[in-house]
Amino acid sequence: MKIIVTGGAGFIGSNFILYMLEKYDYKIICLDKLTYAGNLENLAGVMNNKNFKFIHGDISDKIFIENLFENEKPDIVINFAAESHVDRSIENPNIFLQTNIIGTNILMDACRKSTVKRFHQVSTDEVYGDLPIDKPDLFFTESTPINPSSPYSASKASADLLVQSYHRTFNFPATISRCSNNYGAFHFPEKLIPLMIINALNNKDLPVYGEGKNIRDWLYVKDHCKAIDLIIHNGKIGEVYNIGGHNEKSNIDVVKIILKYLGKPESLIKFVKDRPGHDLRYAIDPNKISNELGWIQDTNFETGIANTIEWYLKNKSWWQNIINGEYKNYYAKMYNGR
Ligand code: NAD
Ligand code: DAU
Repeated sequence: MKIIVTGGAGFIGSNFILYMLEKYDYKIICLDKLTYAGNLENLAGVMNNKNFKFIHGDISDKIFIENLFENEKPDIVINFAAESHVDRSIENPNIFLQTNIIGTNILMDACRKSTVKRFHQVSTDEVYGDLPIDKPDLFFTESTPINPSSPYSASKASADLLVQSYHRTFNFPATISRCSNNYGAFHFPEKLIPLMIINALNNKDLPVYGEGKNIRDWLYVKDHCKAIDLIIHNGKIGEVYNIGGHNEKSNIDVVKIILKYLGKPESLIKFVKDRPGHDLRYAIDPNKISNELGWIQDTNFETGIANTIEWYLKNKSWWQNIINGEYKNYYAKMYNGR
């Protein structure tokens, strides 16, 4: 079995590659453009694995992708590659359309010309838009209408619609998963949890948007990897699977949990100007993947956040290399005077 994993040098893709190489004797090729979010240090542990190969490239480069697929003849393609940060999509939507929509289209066309038996699109719960905070009994199911709020989620929703159209029109062998917010090792520090851990460790302000009441449904990244493993092996072609473990928390609660774990004062919290169009609440109903594929979450939030904070404590050079580079300019642009 040969699998091409796009975006495998990013947060979830790298966790997925490590998980798969440990579990199976499959050939795994990581294809990644190495944008600011791609980091080969995430894959250092498998660079010399005989079953692993890294290829540098862009999913929206049609000729390159066609040649790659012709040479490698993969059985499965799993598309993690994306521009993934909502705040950056508000600053500059264009690259989100290029990578997330055009890139997905180019991958699917190359699959159709090649030997690919399954294309899996890693999508997000953000395609559903948001839920009200005061109706905790409402959840996203696979039949919730697509209603994205940000340029990021609109680009992911567009890609999903294209994938579904390819399945219907060309009988294209695709599956889609829509997962809630992940956290864990190798999470880039532009996102809430790693940003707050690192700022707290550096005794810097923790910038909480608005009043911190927005709710996210957190899933430990290894549980997402396990779900994708199940879908590529047992999922039904043409189907969408939601993934989430009922770990809903308001942002302010997450930040306070991190501060408490690290023994840092709540006076570090600074409420800042809200994100435009900020989604209120995400909450996944995972019944379909649980009932049909037997997926269950292994790691609850309490354990997952402790593992995650410990990882950041043990891997200071990983995040120090990031925050001492181009990230400084990003941080100043997004947060100074906010
Ligand atoms: P990430 O930003 O950490 O990683 C993205 C990776 O894609 C990087 O390695 C980057 O270099 C690569 N990439 C970007 N553009 C590329 C291109 N044109 N060609 C090839 N590679 C390219 O993102 P992540 O958080 O690991 O998310 C991975 C996928 O999972 C995304 O599709 C995202 O929409 C989806 N997702 C993320 C979450 C989450 O909580 N992080 C939840 C649900 C779904
Ligand atoms: O739900 C899945 C999605 O989760 C993925 O599709 C996205 O790729 C991923 O980035 C994530 O999107 P969010 O916008 O929910 O994640 P983020 O970590 O950016 O923000 C989480 C919440 O924390 C959100 O309500 C905004 C808030 N926030 C974020 C940052 C970076 C803050 O209050 N302060 C911050 O500095």
